[in-house]
Amino acid sequence: MAEGKNRQWILQARPTGTLTGDEFRWNEAPIPQCADGQVLVRNLWLSFDPTQRGWMSRDSYLPKIPLGEVMRAFGAGQVIESRRPDYKPGDLVQGGFGWQDYVVTDGKGFVGLRKLPAGVAPNLALSLFGITGTTAYFGITEIGQIKAGETVVVSGAAGSTGSIAGQIAKIKGCRVIGTAGGKEKCDWLVKAAHFDAAIDYKSEDIGARLSELCPNGIDVFFDNVGGTVLNEVLARINLKARIVLCGAISRYNEATPPPGPANYFNLTAKRGRMEGFIILDYASRIPEAVAALGQWQKEGRLVQKEDIAVGLENAPRTLMRLFTGENFGKQLLKIADPG
Ligand SMILES: NC(=O)c1ccc[n+]([C@@H]2O[C@H](COP(=O)([O-])OP(=O)(O)OC[C@H]3O[C@@H](n4cnc5c(N)ncnc54)[C@H](OP(=O)(O)O)[C@@H]3O)[C@@H](O)[C@H]2O)c1
Repeated sequence: MAEGKNRQWILQARPTGTLTGDEFRWNEAPIPQCADGQVLVRNLWLSFDPTQRGWMSRDSYLPKIPLGEVMRAFGAGQVIESRRPDYKPGDLVQGGFGWQDYVVTDGKGFVGLRKLPAGVAPNLALSLFGITGTTAYFGITEIGQIKAGETVVVSGAAGSTGSIAGQIAKIKGCRVIGTAGGKEKCDWLVKAAHFDAAIDYKSEDIGARLSELCPNGIDVFFDNVGGTVLNEVLARINLKARIVLCGAISRYNEATPPPGPANYFNLTAKRGRMEGFIILDYASRIPEAVAALGQWQKEGRLVQKEDIAVGLENAPRTLMRLFTGENFGKQLLKIADPG
């Protein structure tokens, strides 16, 4: 039996507007006991995802996190104790382990349990091969249906999901323009991720720059942001355009949803399609995405950035970084090294 304590962050209040950190309470509990059919996992790495802001507030594709429970999050860890034949101590695993040091799981429900692919480090399992890399893959190929020669725009392009979506579109022969906040991110998009151009939405006129960079219109928009950029793209779509609604981070902190995009009716004139999706719909096809992403990375055709915070005590302020754009790449937090 593991000895020590289980440090946790508990959700104690629902957020209103921008996160402050007061939504969470630090707790120290005993390490949970492992029963028959369960494993005890030591959490090593946490993934930070904008959707966690939604899980704190409202019922959506998952029920909201009940107040008084450990903050929900994806993580990667190591089996410490196993009372099932298919897992042994030392195995590296991933699941919805939450903001805590230890978790017991029978593999069911949100917590789940999955072994890391052989040779894949825990951080990579949560970044390129995790939620964001696989979301980019299925979003741009299945929902976006990109074809060589098309013009693709990606918002939130220097982020974990956006940077991979845009690079896949480049690999498939598209012309790709990204929007991101700040010169450093825009320079990285063009120089390191090989986008054709980048627009700094914080200092440039998005509409004017889209007209300049997409003189023949936009065929596919992979949207992570919503709001102004979505509206400006809708005004410039081509016949049969596809708008991939991956996320809308510009509105996640809004207590009252802002009005919808004024230019939506252009979808009718252009016979366009606007479609949302959730990566959980593609759970059974994750190995396909991991294989393709791994191959492109090995060939040097796909780069990715990770932004790594350290220490479970820093979890709340690490989540806040996603909403200020402080993160540059996949936001992770390292709790401990494997034993
Ligand atoms: N549908 C799905 O299944 C699914 C799965 C995963 C992720 N997503 C969505 O994908 C999007 C990106 O997630 P991620 O995990 O890859 O995070 P990320 O892009 O690595 O980080 C979030 C980024 O959003 C940008 N941002 C924050 N507030 C903004 C605002 N008000 N306006 C414009 N940009 C803002 C910031 O970049 P800048 O510095 O450029 O502003 C920030 O770095 C999110 O909308 C998320 O909900 C959807």
